Amino acid sequence: MRALWAVSLAVAAGLASARPPNIVLIFADDLGYGDLGSYGHPSSTTPNLDQMAAGGLRFTDFYVPASLCTPSRAALLTGRLPVRMGMYPGVLGPSSQGGLPLEEVTLAEVLAAQGYLTGMAGKWHLGVGPDGAFLPPHQGFHRFLGIPYSHDQGPCQNLTCFPPDTPCHGSCDQDLVAIPLLANLSVEAQPPWLPGLEARYVAFSRDLMSDAQRQGRPFFLYYASHHTHYPQFSGRSFTGHSGRGPFGDALMELDAAVGALMTTLGDLGLLGETLLIFTADNGPETMRMSRGGCSGLLKCGKGTTFEGGVREPALAFWPGHITPGVTHELASSLDLLPTVAALTGASLPNVTLDGVDLSPLLLGTGKSPRHSLFFYPAYPDEVRGVFAIRSGKYKAHFFTQGSAHSDTTPDPACHATNPVTAHEPPLLYDLSEDPGENYNLLDGTTEVSTEALMAMKDLQLLKAQYDAAMTFGPSQMARGEDPALQICCKPGCHPHPACCHCPNHRP
Ligand SMILES: *[C@@H]1O[C@H](CO)[C@@H](O)[C@H](O)[C@H]1NC(C)=O
Ligand SMILES: *[C@@H]1O[C@H](CO)[C@@H](O)[C@H](O)[C@H]1NC(C)=O
Ligand SMILES: *[C@@H]1O[C@H](CO)[C@@H](O)[C@H](O)[C@H]1NC(C)=O
Repeated sequence: MRALWAVSLAVAAGLASARPPNIVLIFADDLGYGDLGSYGHPSSTTPNLDQMAAGGLRFTDFYVPASLCTPSRAALLTGRLPVRMGMYPGVLGPSSQGGLPLEEVTLAEVLAAQGYLTGMAGKWHLGVGPDGAFLPPHQGFHRFLGIPYSHDQGPCQNLTCFPPDTPCHGSCDQDLVAIPLLANLSVEAQPPWLPGLEARYVAFSRDLMSDAQRQGRPFFLYYASHHTHYPQFSGRSFTGHSGRGPFGDALMELDAAVGALMTTLGDLGLLGETLLIFTADNGPETMRMSRGGCSGLLKCGKGTTFEGGVREPALAFWPGHITPGVTHELASSLDLLPTVAALTGASLPNVTLDGVDLSPLLLGTGKSPRHSLFFYPAYPDEVRGVFAIRSGKYKAHFFTQGSAHSDTTPDPACHATNPVTAHEPPLLYDLSEDPGENYNLLDGTTEVSTEALMAMKDLQLLKAQYDAAMTFGPSQMARGEDPALQICCKPGCHPHPACCHCPNHRP
């Protein structure tokens, strides 16, 4: 399969643009380091993403700061560590009282203040709150079409999934309202017809881009696909077509959406004026076995601070501005807000940012200013502090813990049965020689090099300084739950929650 938008690249690259670039941020869900063709998966069908990798900058050492949806998404949009903002422990649910605090400054707010038209399609997962107080329209997005949390956070046995016209695999979360599809703050469908969802998001995105162009303003599109989160679904053209089962079909549909966005940009003549970024929120949910994604050569997946939980595929594509290639420099989803602010001339929010400006790395004028990365577990606390730190090529684990999300892998260190374990001295890995975190340099069986000893001491000092300087924000999850906050298309109906049922008709 050939990516159609490829033909217009040469044309796009020749156009010099004085205007700040449009920003398209594509965020996948529970997608591992080993899931894309360009990252070595042998049977994924990802021609558009592979083309984006070939024509852009592909990161080998790109990280998220937390390996769960809610905290990772909070970090992406604010450039701040989730613990500072109270986005812990775990994730938000349909009844949660908390959400991303409104005083936090999102990338959408930064760009809206610069005159951008901002829109979001897909999964939010940063809170609903009373009267939708935490939803995207209150966090800087002029337009929103999407589901406010994960599509398994509601009964899914009645939803149509994969193959089309059959019930979703599994039953998902019970005793909750069916998942709602929201258009801004109104319920568009409850539940939506899943095999038609990605096409709706693409149509929404096309409208956003062409409306912005008509209005003569740049745009910011945050495209947060539900793919490849469990339970997988896909439209008719993808079902059974990927060669990699239900997970591969969902990924193929996401890839086709990327291609459709590219085609739209090409049609509008905006490919040379648009920075596209692709990455994902956390590693694979291997408890779903072959439906759960793949971290490739990395250890464990979602819910852990091992590499498979936090290291993600990442691509940056901007013809004429970003030279195609591969970078091994350290980068984080936290860096997106400061990087985009630098590229668009926006001023930074007056807060403590955990991200750094990667624009020199993107534009080929310098190296990444990032030297270290800090990883908190799914259930962080101020006493234990940061669980793992990467500095240069070394990574130290001061604490490790398995996760149910990473069950079923052959490595028992990943599983939920592996409790929080302190390591003194820390587990120390040289990620350049051992990206799979298999050989602890301090395990006593081999002679420890002076360099490794120095790295250990540096990392121990870094942890002490970091923990001392870090203040956790009050937990938003500790604000508790109120079932009355669940979104219902027929407020006050009986019997609740089953009566909250307003499905849209299939096209
Ligand atoms: C949301 O509101 C904006 C501004 O009023 C509007 O243009 C848009 O069509 C609405 N719907 C969606 C799905 O964004
Ligand atoms: C949903 O599925 C359950 C069986 O799992 C069934 O009892 C119930 O009637 C279904 N609800 C709807 C609205 O179809
Ligand atoms: C930034 O915030 C601090 C306090 O949070 C305040 O003292 C300072 O005046 C602010 N700076 C600007 C430029 O707004």
